[in-house]
Amino acid sequence: MIRSVITGTGSALPVRRVSNAELAKTVDTTDEWIVERTGIRFRHLAGEGETTASLATDAARCAIAAAGIEASDIDLIVLATATPDQTFPASATIVQAKLGILDCVAFDVGAVCSGFLYAVQVADAMLRAGAHSRALVIGAETFSRILDWEDRATCVLFGDGAGAIVMEARSDAGERGVLAVKLHADGRYNELLYVDGGPSTTGTVGKLRMKGREVFRHAVNNLSAVMTESLTLAGLDAAQVDWVVPHQANARILDATARKLGLDPTKVVVTVDQHANTSAASVPLALDHAVRDGRIRPGHLVVLEAMGGGFTWGAAVVRF
Ligand code: UT7
Repeated sequence: MIRSVITGTGSALPVRRVSNAELAKTVDTTDEWIVERTGIRFRHLAGEGETTASLATDAARCAIAAAGIEASDIDLIVLATATPDQTFPASATIVQAKLGILDCVAFDVGAVCSGFLYAVQVADAMLRAGAHSRALVIGAETFSRILDWEDRATCVLFGDGAGAIVMEARSDAGERGVLAVKLHADGRYNELLYVDGGPSTTGTVGKLRMKGREVFRHAVNNLSAVMTESLTLAGLDAAQVDWVVPHQANARILDATARKLGLDPTKVVVTVDQHANTSAASVPLALDHAVRDGRIRPGHLVVLEAMGGGFTWGAAVVRF
């Protein structure tokens, strides 16, 4: 049986790191409000020359090095983003060119904050089908460029960054690999989290709009349910989980979701304080941090989860 195994992780952040206090100089907000309501203390914001594809490429290079392979070994790139460099071509092809990969399959996936989970599912299916052997799966965003900096209810919540993993098709995976993925979408909730523009409607990119309190209400229920579903699919239960790597939207959502599942909060990887919400980048960014600081180790059972605009949401169970 072929299974896809995560053999390397990487991440990249813009150079500029902005504290709540610095933000409060130009936005009508306070460090106290942001920390108390969200747990966010810092975010990185892209500067000149830093784009979704450039951050994605830096993260990809780290993941390729960690996997101990060459860029030319990659035959599939799936990039999750809602903030591509251009409407087209796919940012995945920009990453491909920057990495000097002469031929592979490369495309973007759009499921906003859940995009990385969707990308993992797509890459896993293509690897297990035998069509590809080594995939780069990336979540990368520059949400700072679609924020309304006059809207304090949203602009303080997001940051920029990228995370990447190398997934390899292995027939000798043993217990390792992607054990289960469960995804959902419910388009009835489009209007709770969206951008007010697009190529086919306004001919503009648009700005992010969110009814935060209503999104919050759905998040805890959907995330705890889908984690349980993915564990059931894998024939496992919450007590066996070593680490949860959640979408980093709000520390209160992370706490409430862990409580609902009866999970020890010390098993939850938290980076929202340092990175804020980086949409599709947030899960692979947090994953890379926990792998590099030695928390996630070979053999560990890890659950990845995310929810975002659409709504879309999902969870993946992975043995490292
Ligand atoms: O990544 C996709 C998933 N996204 C999410 O999961 C986000 C989910 N939602 C949330 O995380 C929270 O709902 C927020 C952090 C967005 C907001 O927290 P809240 O506790 O739901 O606050 P609220 O929106 O109900 O606003 C409470 C008050 C309001 O004032 P009044 O009307 O009570 O006087 C806002 O005007 O806080 C005010 N407010 C702010 N004050 C200072 C809103 N934004 C700010 C701000 N600084 N930045």
